[in-house]
Amino acid sequence: MSPDNEKVPRKIQAILQTIFDHKSVVVVYVLGGPGAGKGTQCTRLVKGFDFVHLSAGDLLRAEQNRSNSEYGEMIRTYIREGTIVPMEVTIKLLENAMTAALETKKGSPAWSNGSGRFLIDGFPRKMDQALKFDESVCLASLTLYYDCDEETMLSRLLERGKTSGREDDNVESIKKRFVVYKEQTKPVIEYYEKLGKVAKIDSTSDVDEVYKKTAEAITPFLEKKK
Ligand code: ADP
Ligand code: C5P
Ligand code: MG
Repeated sequence: MSPDNEKVPRKIQAILQTIFDHKSVVVVYVLGGPGAGKGTQCTRLVKGFDFVHLSAGDLLRAEQNRSNSEYGEMIRTYIREGTIVPMEVTIKLLENAMTAALETKKGSPAWSNGSGRFLIDGFPRKMDQALKFDESVCLASLTLYYDCDEETMLSRLLERGKTSGREDDNVESIKKRFVVYKEQTKPVIEYYEKLGKVAKIDSTSDVDEVYKKTAEAITPFLEKKK
C-alpha cells in the first residue's frame, strides 16, 4: 500500500482538474459489503482522527426524504432494489457536503488552511463513480476495505433491521445488495488494489478489534500526509 499517489495512471493525472486538492484534502474511501461494519468503524474514526464522515447512503436517504427533491422517488426505488443510484446525483451530494464541512470545520487542527480529512463511506460502489470522483472532485488517497463473509453480514443486517427502519434491511433486498456488491463494487476494490491504495481489514471480529486494525492501518498513512 502506498500512501502517495505516484501510482495514479498517467492518463488520469494528465486530466486531473479536481474541485479539492488531494494534497491538502485527504479522501479515504470506505468499502466492503453491506453490513461489513463500515459505518460503525467510521464513527470511531471520527472520534479518533478528526475525520468528517460522509456516508453516500445516508446522503441519498436524506435527499430522498427532502421535500421538493426531484430525485426522491427515484432514489427510493434504487435503494429498495439495492441498485446503484446514477453517479451524478451521489457525487453532487458528496461534493456539497464536503464544501460545507470544510467551512464548518475550519477551526479544528486538522482542518486549517483549507486542509481536511474525509471518510467517504459506501462509495465508490461502481467503477464510473470511482473514476469520476477521482478525476473531478478529489483524488482519493486510500481505500479501507472491510472484508466480511456473507453469512456474518446477513445476520448483522437482519439484526440491524429490527430497529433501523431501513427499507433495504430485509432478506429480499439484502440478497440483491450482495449481488450488486459482487458484480459492481468488487471490481472497484480490485482497481484500487492494483494501484496499491487499499488497506484490507478483516471485519468479522468484534468492533474493538476491527477498530484496532483500522487505526494501525491509518495512523502511518496520516503521519506521512502531514
Ligand atoms: P455497513 O455500514 O457496512 O453496512 P454497519 O456499520 O451499519 O455496516 O454495521 C451493520 C450492523 O452490524 C450494525 O447493526 C452494527 O452495529 C453491527 N456491527 C458492525 N460491526 C460489527 C462487528 N465488528 N461485530 C458485530 N457487529 C457489528
Ligand atoms: O451504504 P448503504 O448501505 O447505506 O447504501 C444503501 C443504498 O444506497 C445502496 O444499496 C444503494 O442503493 C444506494 N447507494 C448508491 N450509491 C452509493 C452508495 C449507496 O446507489 N455510492
Ligand atoms: Mg452503512
